[in-house]
Amino acid sequence: MKLSAAFVLVALLGLAQAVPVTVSEISEKSSQGLRLVQLAEDAQPVWKTEDEVLQFIREEVNFFDITDTWAQEQDLPQMKMAAIAYPTPSHQSAVSPLIVKLSTTNMSSWLSSLTAYNNRYYRASTGQAASVWIQNTLRSIATSAGRSDITITPFSHTFLQTSTIVRFPGAGSDNAITILGAHMDSINSSNPMNGRAPGADDNASGTVNLMDVFRVLAQGGFKPSSPLELHFYGGEEAGLLGSNDIAINYKSTGKAVKAVLNLDMSAYSRPGSTAVIGIMPDFTDASLSTFLTQVVTTYSKLPAVKNSPCGYACSDHASWYRQGFPASHSSEGQFPNGINGALHTISDTTSLSGFSVSHALEMSKVALGFAYELTV
Ligand SMILES: *[C@@H]1O[C@H](CO)[C@@H](O)[C@H](O)[C@H]1NC(C)=O
Ligand SMILES: *[C@@H]1O[C@H](CO)[C@@H](O)[C@H](O)[C@H]1NC(C)=O
Ligand SMILES: *[C@@H]1O[C@H](CO)[C@@H](O)[C@H](O)[C@H]1NC(C)=O
Ligand SMILES: [Zn+2]
Repeated sequence: MKLSAAFVLVALLGLAQAVPVTVSEISEKSSQGLRLVQLAEDAQPVWKTEDEVLQFIREEVNFFDITDTWAQEQDLPQMKMAAIAYPTPSHQSAVSPLIVKLSTTNMSSWLSSLTAYNNRYYRASTGQAASVWIQNTLRSIATSAGRSDITITPFSHTFLQTSTIVRFPGAGSDNAITILGAHMDSINSSNPMNGRAPGADDNASGTVNLMDVFRVLAQGGFKPSSPLELHFYGGEEAGLLGSNDIAINYKSTGKAVKAVLNLDMSAYSRPGSTAVIGIMPDFTDASLSTFLTQVVTTYSKLPAVKNSPCGYACSDHASWYRQGFPASHSSEGQFPNGINGALHTISDTTSLSGFSVSHALEMSKVALGFAYELTV
């Protein structure tokens, strides 16, 4: 998650240098270490050095890094999926017994494991070790619940860190996939490869929300009628790499997606302010966001409030939106003022004032309700 679109000037400078990209220059420029980034919707992508890309990250300038996907994307149809009519939440009697099984204990213990990696940077060995740890932890939950029907699959990228795709197959004829996603990487923006980046809130919190929703659904014998997937994205902090790669893969293989919910930062509530869950208004689907708002009201004890726009490429929902899939994003507080300001630093820890696993539990309830209502 990126906090602000403050450095518009930098972005505009980038646009001024834009010239049309050609397929033939991609391998040459990327082998020189340049990265192809897009800084605004409908803007030409521009080549940047790795240092310039890091400077964007430090200055919270949002961008897609499309170096490895641009050529493939040119061949994809530009169509948007037909509008989907979302239901009004109506399965309270079935969801409530699952929601009471969600636990801050499990989330806390997994937060300790994830934040103990020096960082979870997408090119660092510890970033890949954290991804493997997530896969192994989920596999052991599935195995002890006797759930051989659930698949847990690493998704490889051009970089070291894998994303992870967990799939509950659908028992019925509706193949449209409901996706809950969170990025699992973290970054220390002054020293990405070696610097300490506990990334407790950004975004271990979204990751442990999904892990606990997985635990409760797997142990509760949940078998949806349409497929449910939980995605743990690598490389979000470096230009939405993991989610963009996966969204393009789904588009190019013709997969139908019913809904995407992106959880990025769920465990911080600004001291002294009223706790709320924010609903992201931009680069998201309006009907799905209305449904998400109803889910928050139905299944969490917190009110839903509309966020200010987060801007282009602010988190993984943007990757799905870019490919025409219906996406939504719920945040720990009202964006931007209600969001944790310590993201991307050594101070993003579980001991930060305002960090609360009980607050994160409310987001787990939302994610579980969202998944159940759309897949049952
Ligand atoms: C979740 O927490 C409970 C209570 O501490 C513990 O018994 C259980 O083993 C944990 N589950 C997992 C999968 O870690
Ligand atoms: C954490 O991950 C979720 C899910 O991908 C995303 O919505 C959110 O923006 C991320 N948070 C940050 C601060 O990157
Ligand atoms: C990056 O990590 C180093 C130590 O590994 C730390 O001194 C520095 O403050 C960190 N940078 C940020 C922005 O937190
Ligand atoms: Zn972030």
